[in-house]
Amino acid sequence: MTIALSVNGRSVETEADPSTPLIDVLRNHLDLRGTRYGCGLEQCGSCMVIIDGKADYACSREIGSVAGRSVTTIEGLADGEALHPLQVAFLEEQAGQCGYCLSGILMSAKALLDRNPSPSRADIIAALDGNLCRCGAHPRILRAVEKAATAMREGVVA
Ligand code: FES
Ligand code: FES
Repeated sequence: MTIALSVNGRSVETEADPSTPLIDVLRNHLDLRGTRYGCGLEQCGSCMVIIDGKADYACSREIGSVAGRSVTTIEGLADGEALHPLQVAFLEEQAGQCGYCLSGILMSAKALLDRNPSPSRADIIAALDGNLCRCGAHPRILRAVEKAATAMREGVVA
């Protein structure tokens, strides 16, 4: 059975079993390895992608449940060579150490800024509640999201 969906604006098809986790299809069938596997239990957020505008766990979503839907992964964040303002801000703030959590955090942050261009710090903390960072980079991560929000409001859009 062929399952069709959109990934990063591109129509793709897969013959994977409908019960296959979305993250397996992304990484192993579509060669999009930026989405990272951590717990597999919706506990760490390292696998976060955006599905129809909403941050969601790629480890627990079955590919059959996203048929016909639009998925954005970390590979879809930049516009060609132009980094997204979130990526720019994370680099400028050095908002990470090992970096394992960052693709998931960036996708949660993007989903937030897409629906709320002026989030309070409490809004950002709530949006990132499902994303763990074992390195404890949270203060810099929060600063980076705030910086990106400001840049996007001021029109510095990738
Ligand atoms: S791998 Fe999906 S939440 Fe941890
Ligand atoms: S930077 Fe290492 S887990 Fe977040």
